[in-house]
Amino acid sequence: MKTIPKKALKHADILEQMRGFSDSDVNYRDSRTWSLVYHLDDQHTEFLKQAYGMYFSENALNPMAFKSLKRFETDIINMTAQMLSGDKKAVGTLTSGGTESCLLPVLTYRDLARAKRKLPFTPEMIAPESIHVAWSKAAQYFGVKIRYAPLKQDFRVDVEAVRKMINRRTILLVGSAPSYPHGVIDPIEELGKVAQQYDLPLHVDSCLGGFLLPFIEKNDGSIPPFDFRIPGVTSISADVHKYGFAAKGASTVVYRDMKYMKHQFFIHQDWPGGVFASPALLGTRPGGSFAAAWAAIHALGEDGYCANAQKIMEITRELQSGITNIDGLAILGQPEMSVFAYHSTDDKVNIFAVGDQMESRGWQIDRLQRPEGLHVMVVPGHARITIEYLSDLKDSVETVRSNPGLAAKGNAAMYGMIAKLPFRSMIKKEVMKMMEELYSPEGSMPMDGDNNPLSVRIMAKILQRFSKVKGAKE
Ligand SMILES: Cc1ncc(COP(=O)(O)O)c(C=O)c1O
Repeated sequence: MKTIPKKALKHADILEQMRGFSDSDVNYRDSRTWSLVYHLDDQHTEFLKQAYGMYFSENALNPMAFKSLKRFETDIINMTAQMLSGDKKAVGTLTSGGTESCLLPVLTYRDLARAKRKLPFTPEMIAPESIHVAWSKAAQYFGVKIRYAPLKQDFRVDVEAVRKMINRRTILLVGSAPSYPHGVIDPIEELGKVAQQYDLPLHVDSCLGGFLLPFIEKNDGSIPPFDFRIPGVTSISADVHKYGFAAKGASTVVYRDMKYMKHQFFIHQDWPGGVFASPALLGTRPGGSFAAAWAAIHALGEDGYCANAQKIMEITRELQSGITNIDGLAILGQPEMSVFAYHSTDDKVNIFAVGDQMESRGWQIDRLQRPEGLHVMVVPGHARITIEYLSDLKDSVETVRSNPGLAAKGNAAMYGMIAKLPFRSMIKKEVMKMMEELYSPEGSMPMDGDNNPLSVRIMAKILQRFSKVKGAKE
């Protein structure tokens, strides 16, 4: 177990050691990864670091003490609300990220429902099967049951199914713009009508699309309305640290009106530490991420976001048409923006084996289940690797087609089996054991030099354990 060094180390030595730690990290700078990092370019990143550094120590826990940070927050929320077609009554808070911007509305609408009526039962929210997993987390944290509405063939939620699922316990409807797995926008307009008919709030999770869709729409008008133009929409989450190209730790949750958001606030008047009021989940709120988010929006401006959107969509179209032209592959659904997935249409081409092949060619690949697919999330830097990606993908498909055994080997076999394992609760139990190991004092898994993504290694262990349990029972 590591202990605090007895004597202080030299700054230069510390920094050198730290640089070494990143040797086994994925390299996002070469544009061979498709998520996790929304890197615009080095110049922009250096600028963000300056902005972040300027407010490095400031704390938005007390907006009276740091009026600068409150100004950043108010400005960012106003700009975001205006971008999402909110009117003068729109309000919101800056949060630490998409997850916080999904957690908060669940708390808010649960407490709004409690304020309106008694809830002598577990309140329920209805969300598409494709909703981001942060909503499950929110449900678990705040004692709300999440009920998943089925998707139609086009991967958008079935609004009639949502309508039928509404009952007296329902407190909230949710849709995505777009969904993380398939990049499609749910029929928000229709959901809005249902929400109004049953007098329910409707939140749109636009963590991914919030800072991209409005600019695609400005460029070519191709986006269906998903924002406050739809009367039933009561709130929207939009991440500045994704397509807003801010530093990590910045998202927004915007409400149509304070009458909703006031249920998000926490106030405790009797604390010996003083009367305490907090607008969001965190106590201490880092000034650096507020400052960098404000700086990013001003550095890009509407023109910059539109230009980026144009570039991102050109790369997306090039990738999608390249993938469609590869025999045996097809795009899942008809995604509106730069996030999408593709799958195999040929029994002889196992898509997870294609993922393995791509990884052996140096790409970091994200995999989807139900249905199985590979995931893409485009940023401007991908312009320089589009041709190489498509050529490697074509080779990978051909390799898999001519070597059917590959589907039963490596990560492909694991992903395939895990997706089909019948005992889902057992998977959960095994993942829990893995988490306990990962967060044990040794926390060894990510440090042992193995470059496999964590999920693959977790799955390998699950399978190992699963076969042991199965063996013991037989
Ligand atoms: C639609 C959607 N909602 C929420 C989140 C969670 O965001 P974060 O990872 O910033 O917490 C994501 C992340 O990709 C997302 O795609």
